[in-house]
Amino acid sequence: MAVTLVIGAQWGDEGKGKIIDHIAQNSKFVVRFHGGNNAGHTVINKFGKFAMHLVPSGIFAPHAKTVISNGVVLDLEVLLAEIEMLAKSGIKTKGKLFISPRCHIIMPYHKILDSLCEKAKGKTKTGTTGRGIGPTYADKVSYNGIRIWDLMDKKVFSQKLKIQLFLKNKILTSLGVSPLAQKDIEKVYLAFATKIKPYIKEPYSLIHSALQKKENILLEGAQGMFLDNDWGTYPFVTASTVVAGGVTEGSGIPPKKLDQIIGVVKAYTTRVGSGPFPTELQNGIGAKLRKTGGEFGVTTGRPRRCGWFDAELIRFASQINGFTTLAITKLDVLDTFSEIKICTHYALNGKKVRYIDGDTSFLAKVKPIYRTFKGWRKSTKGITKYKDLPLEAKYYLKAIEKLINTPIKYISTGPKREEIIKL
Ligand code: GDP
Ligand code: IMO
Ligand code: MG
Repeated sequence: MAVTLVIGAQWGDEGKGKIIDHIAQNSKFVVRFHGGNNAGHTVINKFGKFAMHLVPSGIFAPHAKTVISNGVVLDLEVLLAEIEMLAKSGIKTKGKLFISPRCHIIMPYHKILDSLCEKAKGKTKTGTTGRGIGPTYADKVSYNGIRIWDLMDKKVFSQKLKIQLFLKNKILTSLGVSPLAQKDIEKVYLAFATKIKPYIKEPYSLIHSALQKKENILLEGAQGMFLDNDWGTYPFVTASTVVAGGVTEGSGIPPKKLDQIIGVVKAYTTRVGSGPFPTELQNGIGAKLRKTGGEFGVTTGRPRRCGWFDAELIRFASQINGFTTLAITKLDVLDTFSEIKICTHYALNGKKVRYIDGDTSFLAKVKPIYRTFKGWRKSTKGITKYKDLPLEAKYYLKAIEKLINTPIKYISTGPKREEIIKL
């Protein structure tokens, strides 16, 4: 198995947490390498039900060490609350969780700027999670970020914060928001620093020694391919690199060390936030998918937009990420549908077009061309053997495999760890 990368192949919430928790049982390291607490990864196992925002979903695996590497942006309040929540459920993090001092910190002004940008955009807003993700990454790439390393030195933190508040308070006050006080931020963040200190250790050497020993390393992607800052539906995207290439930048693992790249896809499609969604169903079928699939955001609680499986998108996702296999989740959600559709490709003005051909206004206009499948109308919930799946479900999965030209390795038939078929 060696190095396995798990990537969301749609617009996030594909069930990555479930797949990671399952695979992590055989891993020595589980690494979160990008994004922040915009992520919400649900894990349901013998310890309970957990919504993981920052701590890797592999924390429950007995032999796995977990890493938050340099590519992740950290809201320390959320991180500390998550560590405490895990402790209450008897899950140990000390000696099991390592955080890179290179991680950038989400500051109070980032969250305010996130909401101010959204407000200014009005109807054209991105629909962010409001967690300050975009402004934090913007500061990172423009050399204005504050890292964990800075926070560990009171004097450096204070100097850097002073410069940032000089700049940010000008923006805040010009937009009618009260300025932030250095003293107040210092008090709160220096208290965070004391609590987080035992977890701070540059994970590079740990990971590279594991690579040398050929130990199993699992990389936990966040968000989804079509929220990638370059290859997603910009500007309705997130701030980090979601595609497979982001691994080296975000964790220090060389690209050629990746042995498996698993694309996680729902058996249908969902999206939270704004932006084009060619197979969206704004009708009773979409509402049924939302209700049956429990499609409400783990992080913000927003209802997710729902639609049919889009093979045009996943074909592109598989190509650009180099998926070696697919993990299909939530097959059971389709159990009661008499008809199920797959968008095989897009058309515009009677011509076949591809995802890559245009921008968001183009994607808002394309017409999905569907192939209709007969529903199986039997329960697949909790099935663990492929042979036990209804014939129509097998036919649906085979069609996906063929349309994407990528083999399916996992079929998830329920939210719990053991509700899965491994091929
Ligand atoms: P992530 O962000 O990719 O980890 O996905 P989320 O946790 O945000 O959303 C996935 C939701 O689907 C969660 O509520 C999971 O518990 C649930 N889930 C995952 N796999 C399955 C499955 O195979 N069947 C069903 N019914 N629910 C699933
Ligand atoms: P997981 O890891 C679904 C979406 C937001 C918004 C856009 C930008 O649970 O799959 P941001 O707060 O990142 O600036 O918001 O990206 N988004 C997600 N949607 N799942 C996620 O994470 C997401 N993380 C960000 O809804 O459209
Ligand atoms: Mg999620």
